[in-house]
Amino acid sequence: MSQPFVPRPLVIAPSILASDFSKLGDEVRAVDQAGADWIHLDVMDGHFVPNISYGPDVIRALRPHTNKIFDAHLMIAPCDPYLEAFAKAGCDHITVHAEAGPHLHRSLQAIKTLGKRAGVSLNPATPISAIEYVIDMVDLVLIMSVNPGFGGQAFIPSAIGKIQDLRAMTAGRPIDIEVDGGVAPDVAGALAAAGANGFVAGSAVFKGGTMQSYKTNIAAIRTAAMQARGEAI
Ligand code: DX5
Ligand code: ZN
Repeated sequence: MSQPFVPRPLVIAPSILASDFSKLGDEVRAVDQAGADWIHLDVMDGHFVPNISYGPDVIRALRPHTNKIFDAHLMIAPCDPYLEAFAKAGCDHITVHAEAGPHLHRSLQAIKTLGKRAGVSLNPATPISAIEYVIDMVDLVLIMSVNPGFGGQAFIPSAIGKIQDLRAMTAGRPIDIEVDGGVAPDVAGALAAAGANGFVAGSAVFKGGTMQSYKTNIAAIRTAAMQARGEAI
């Protein structure tokens, strides 16, 4: 008998890549207060992606500023030599890219051994079949709806169909489906209807530059997603 579909909790994860780096601790506290569920941490190495952001030392420095889940998105290759450092820095989720190396299974094993939730991210061109044989090790799949490396890019619509297919693949498993890139209230409904439960947003959350605007921005994404999920606002 097929399992009934039980939606995973709706999660809004502001990406601090779009925040004011000169006051990162304040920005993390502001989005926490503004209603963020997770804090999304974009780590870029200038090699796997054409941009450099920050690493485990910055994440460790941010850890005392919030109790929210630290959702790390590693856009680095290789990733294995750094997994322990990110775990020790206070990351709760560690997501690696399927394209970052030849040994995804080993990376996921290492993350689980470190006691963290293990995520896999897929670039827009990567099919979901890339995770078929590691699906039982995965706690979270992060579907990229832009090419990783920069905030503020336009949403790539093929992510919607990909999420629908992924929902079918993950049915009955406790796997979060997170979407990242160009996410704003205008696409959140379609993404939620397709099966995404985690919404990463950088520019759409941090526009306005104040806690009050972050609150309005997060609420707008949440409302659009809740409506599509048929949940009371
Ligand atoms: C892109 C990052 C995203 C980025 C999203 O490589 O993974 O998390 O911060 O930014 P927006 O929401 O502005 O597209
Ligand atoms: Zn990200």
